[in-house]
Amino acid sequence: MAPVTAAVSTLPRRAFHIGIDVGGTWIKGALIDVANGTPAGAVRRLQTPSCGSVDAVAGTMARLVTELDAGNPGATDHTVGVAIPSIVKQGVARSAANLHSGWIGLDVQSYLQSRLGRPVRVVNDADAAGLAETQYGAGAATRGVVLVLTLGTGIGSALIVDGRLVPNFELGHLEVGGFKAESRASAVVRENEGLDWVEYASRLQRYLSHVEFLFSPDLIIIGGGISACSHEFLPRLSLRSPVIAAGLENSAGVVGAALQATTGRT
Ligand code: BGC
Repeated sequence: MAPVTAAVSTLPRRAFHIGIDVGGTWIKGALIDVANGTPAGAVRRLQTPSCGSVDAVAGTMARLVTELDAGNPGATDHTVGVAIPSIVKQGVARSAANLHSGWIGLDVQSYLQSRLGRPVRVVNDADAAGLAETQYGAGAATRGVVLVLTLGTGIGSALIVDGRLVPNFELGHLEVGGFKAESRASAVVRENEGLDWVEYASRLQRYLSHVEFLFSPDLIIIGGGISACSHEFLPRLSLRSPVIAAGLENSAGVVGAALQATTGRT
């Protein structure tokens, strides 16, 4: 099916919200103008506490929000959007593949609201990236079935159909060749195993061929920090669907979290 080019959805009115993205290495945050998906100032980042506990991660988020407030005094009464690497249903975390198990079952939204002292919306990190990429980034002109994959500590995935997100699409946990996909083809696995780009592209090829067979996407967008090196592996892939690098690179999670703060339903 040929992708149809059109604006996917109506952009929200100009408004600023804080977006926070909790990753395996960094917790990033910025004040985002959700009318155009651009950060007002630099994206700030603090190291993710190594224990990954709810209390420690929430403490780091609180420091980040204080830093962002200091630079943007007008933003203190706004909803904070938080992207976490977990299945999220009605604000409750339902998994924790790369987090402390203490997150599972926690009403993260209510907990963070009391820790941060303002309204909070919580969303899966890949869903946040997918929303941002299809609203403002590499998928903004594509209708149909768009699959956004984030390659980082794990593999995140978001499916967006005609601009609407199918939440909690966990394709990083798909089993391919007897292995969980993210245990073979995440960016961190590439680093840990010292894979060169040819070896890594061949792992991605195997995974993406399977995913393409199952979902026949009109467009696949590859995000995560590794997307900055996409010239090393994208040309080695052979798929029917177009595969392109994320437009917002590594800030898609922060931007999508802020977007979710305005329109959030998870
Ligand atoms: C988690 C997903 C998350 C992805 C990327 C996976 O291990 O299950 O929820 O989106 O990692 O962080």
